[in-house]
Amino acid sequence: MTAAEPEGEREGERGAAREQLPALAERRTQLLAWYRRAHRDLPWRRTRDPYAIWVSEIMLQQTRVETVLAYYDRFLARFPDLFALAAAPLDDVLAAWSGLGYYRRARFLKSAAELLARDAGGRFPRDVAAAVLLPGIGRSTAGAIVSIAYGTRAAVLDGNVKRVLARLAGLAELDGAPLEKRAWPLAEALVDCDAPGDVNQSLMELGATVCLPFAAARCEECPWRDGCRARAAGTVESLPQSRPRAALREETWLVAVVRRGSRFLLRRRPPTGLLHDLFELPAFESGSAAPDEAQCRRLLARALAAQFGGAPQIGDELLLHRQVISNRRVALRAFAVTLDTRPRPPARFATAAELRELAITTATRKIVARLRAEATRTAALSGPARARTSKRPPPPAAAS
Ligand code: ADE
Repeated sequence: MTAAEPEGEREGERGAAREQLPALAERRTQLLAWYRRAHRDLPWRRTRDPYAIWVSEIMLQQTRVETVLAYYDRFLARFPDLFALAAAPLDDVLAAWSGLGYYRRARFLKSAAELLARDAGGRFPRDVAAAVLLPGIGRSTAGAIVSIAYGTRAAVLDGNVKRVLARLAGLAELDGAPLEKRAWPLAEALVDCDAPGDVNQSLMELGATVCLPFAAARCEECPWRDGCRARAAGTVESLPQSRPRAALREETWLVAVVRRGSRFLLRRRPPTGLLHDLFELPAFESGSAAPDEAQCRRLLARALAAQFGGAPQIGDELLLHRQVISNRRVALRAFAVTLDTRPRPPARFATAAELRELAITTATRKIVARLRAEATRTAALSGPARARTSKRPPPPAAAS
């Protein structure tokens, strides 16, 4: 069902949902009582500001609460309202997002802020039908924002809520469209009340902390343990039924670690395609899932010569970092490299502090962190060893 479906049809489906889940009002009361007692105190739950709630919901789309907590306050301090975000240079917004990944979300957030600043007096829409017209906002995210910020009766159906409802009502449809068709009316029937924002927060919280995936479910702590159809049928671990996922493509990327003192050479990725416009340690797809080391050196030297000129020298292999990037499972092999040319802008050398101010790829952030940790460990180990083998005379014995 789409947000644009006729209201009569929706009411019919909500009625069917009520029949499917008897004592809906009692269920809702149990859920809200549990939420009041058990919810986590999260910063976006202390505000009704639609902009702040919008930012939190976008950050939470593909990122864990613990990670978002490290970015949310800082982002809002830097862009305190929709107008500040709309007016900021895109690179500043991407830099503040750096570490959260999935930069598309930040680009959409910024362009939606520009639209609202220009055309809507900076006001976020109060209903789902208008909110879903904004870039980066689907039906579930729209429901979360307008229900929490304005008390609009709009449902949420993110991954956590889907799992909760599939188990509660014993929905055995495959995850994706078939399950969503059954679950949306249930979610809508539950928010048909005076506290839709709290109901949505409760459902999300239950899915995030109690009704956990597979065998991690903590049914003893669940306010719905007595009415849950999956629990009664012993199917909690198998619901929702996951659909087969497309296999990830295996790739090897070759990464050049070019240092100047404590600074690292970064290049800017091309303006289109995967991870476009982000800064990174120069990385090149090898064209093979598992090239041998000689091939890696040859390919990396050739790619670097094409990009920076001269005759790059490929030194030690420093580390292997594995990461899923979009639909690829990537092995990133990092090599120490010496260039005999001077890279031109937008390529640049950056210190660790400057890296924090740039929009860089997650892989680059992780690789640099590992290289720095390794350097610190090496320095710590070699420090005392050097002291032990030093030629300095031993200190005088203490007087007895
Ligand atoms: N995930 C998505 N939205 C959330 C919220 N408001 N609170 C906790 N987790 C969430």
